[in-house]
Amino acid sequence: MKILVIGNQKGGVGKTSTGVHLTFDSFERGLKVVFIDLDTQGNGSHTLKKYASGVFASSFFNGGPVNVVNGAETPGLALIESDSGLANLESMSLAEAGKAFRAAMDNLKQQGFDLCVIDTAPSLGVALAAALYSADYVLSPIELEAYSIQGIKKMNAAIANVRRVNPKLKFLGMVPSKVDSRNPRHGRHLEQLQAAYPQLIIPTSIGLRSSIADALASGVPVWEIKKTAARKAAKEVRALADLVFKKMEITAS
Ligand SMILES: Nc1ncnc2c1ncn2[C@@H]1O[C@H](COP(=O)(O)OP(=O)(O)O)[C@@H](O)[C@H]1O
Ligand SMILES: [Mg+2]
Repeated sequence: MKILVIGNQKGGVGKTSTGVHLTFDSFERGLKVVFIDLDTQGNGSHTLKKYASGVFASSFFNGGPVNVVNGAETPGLALIESDSGLANLESMSLAEAGKAFRAAMDNLKQQGFDLCVIDTAPSLGVALAAALYSADYVLSPIELEAYSIQGIKKMNAAIANVRRVNPKLKFLGMVPSKVDSRNPRHGRHLEQLQAAYPQLIIPTSIGLRSSIADALASGVPVWEIKKTAARKAAKEVRALADLVFKKMEITAS
């Protein structure tokens, strides 16, 4: 089981949208995928509620066994739901939380999944750090707005720090999301970022498209939204999934 964390301490940049779409896409490729929602806002849990496994995310931090497969409604796609217990994590030490989470992930690895996608909260908190300590890959959606860009250095530093403790962690890069092709500021910011981080800016970006918000609200991937405008969005999301899964060396069995 390969573990992919979607992380950026800034909110509203497309983390949940990216995580949910990679989950749907991998499931359709025939992979067995589990989505862990570590954000107390529970946006990903809302979109994926049909796939709820009955296991709650905070149980990954309390040392007990996790048994996901038995509860799954749809074989091959399981949601580990966000719950209010996640709010208590910030009172745990990172060492304690990291250790408990890693043990739970080792347990999860025995349960037949090919891929685990972890969606995280918009903060550089204990949950994100614990997830990064266990992960193989991290992907960061970014927005091309000034406030979002100011946070990128911090995020890259946080990932670099974790890599000293978890050297297997690979940073897949930053995906420009909610990109408005008619907004010259977005174009400028993208050029600046490409110059500053030539290796880290993923070449497939996701446009600002209302069909993506429609899809998330309806609990389906954007390629199931029957509007002409959704086609472009679907193409972009599929291209991103292709690139990410290629980098992760994931292929359908
Ligand atoms: N590419 C996009 N185009 C338009 N709206 C989007 C896009 N991606 C996400 N959204 C919307 O923007 C908001 C924030 O996206 P979300 O994925 O929840 O970000 P995060 O998880 O980083 O907070 C949500 O309301 C979502 O529906
Ligand atoms: Mg989110």
